Amino acid sequence: MTTDRTTTDDRTTTDDRTTADGPHGRPDRIALTGAAGSLATDVLPGLTDLGYHVVGVDRKPATDTAAAICQDWARCEITDSDALVTAFTGCGAVVHLAGIPLEADWETVSRVNIDGTQAVLEAARRAGVPRVVLASSIHAVGYVGIPADGGTVPDDVPARPNTFYGVSKAAVEALGSLYHDRYGLEVVCLRIASRFARPRDERMLATWLSPADAVRLTDAALRAPGVGFRLVWGVSANSRGYLSHSGGAAIGYTPVDDAERYADTLFAEAGDDPSVLASEEDRRFLGGVFCSEHPPMFEW
Ligand SMILES: NC(=O)c1ccc[n+]([C@@H]2O[C@H](COP(=O)([O-])OP(=O)(O)OC[C@H]3O[C@@H](n4cnc5c(N)ncnc54)[C@H](O)[C@@H]3O)[C@@H](O)[C@H]2O)c1
Repeated sequence: MTTDRTTTDDRTTTDDRTTADGPHGRPDRIALTGAAGSLATDVLPGLTDLGYHVVGVDRKPATDTAAAICQDWARCEITDSDALVTAFTGCGAVVHLAGIPLEADWETVSRVNIDGTQAVLEAARRAGVPRVVLASSIHAVGYVGIPADGGTVPDDVPARPNTFYGVSKAAVEALGSLYHDRYGLEVVCLRIASRFARPRDERMLATWLSPADAVRLTDAALRAPGVGFRLVWGVSANSRGYLSHSGGAAIGYTPVDDAERYADTLFAEAGDDPSVLASEEDRRFLGGVFCSEHPPMFEW
């Protein structure tokens, strides 16, 4: 299931505010926040191979990868609206990845992830950018139970955060919804599960998003016509998966990779290390160990 307010709610339409200012229905020039980060480093080469011209935005200087790829670089705080408007002007879409990517204290998480996302959406509106792709997370719905019957969890399952971080991502989605309903911005929220080079533990055999699929997903979110407002799982085609692929299919995302190809190696390399095996929380909840009373914290 996806939520497409353009078909279910006629308060707003996306009419001709399409993202298609480049060939093949994709925006030519995009802004990528968090461009010095790990996910951005994964997707930047793939996006430029597809023909996107990227303006990087980050509080850090460009990494070597980013410097070689990005046409421009805006070094600023993600809450600096005026700097964001300047960076976004002339872009057909914004991909917003900047943020605190794990659990941290409330003040930091809310300032960077919630205030920062509001600043990004407001700057996109002011700069006339028609579409924003937001990095949400599985932890926005971390306390949702894993289906016991082999079923799948819908893309738009209601928020049930497991951390302050998860609350911030639920707020990211709510802000996207508001900017769609109030201003007609097209917004795709990617509920990214576990994006790593390889699955690192048993849980990730179900929740892994490969770097190549992250590129496919971002490309689909940028180029799908008339997306309205959507929540889409960011996950690969894992044999053990329990996250729906319907939302991805609706925007033209076809995952290719399957974590299962790493399963034998993962368990062989782990040997007697029990930390690789699924914990009780991993077996019960989408958010796994982050549903414990003391979730792993983000380390600067
Ligand atoms: N990696 C995953 O598996 C995963 C899963 C779910 C969601 N996500 C989301 O994807 C996004 C990227 O994650 P990542 O793994 O690349 O994280 P990362 O920490 O590697 O990258 C985040 C980037 O944001 C920048 N940033 C942080 N605070 C900033 C600020 N105040 N102003 C400007 N820039 C700032 C950092 O400098 C960094 O370059 C995050 O929003 C994260 O919550 C990631």
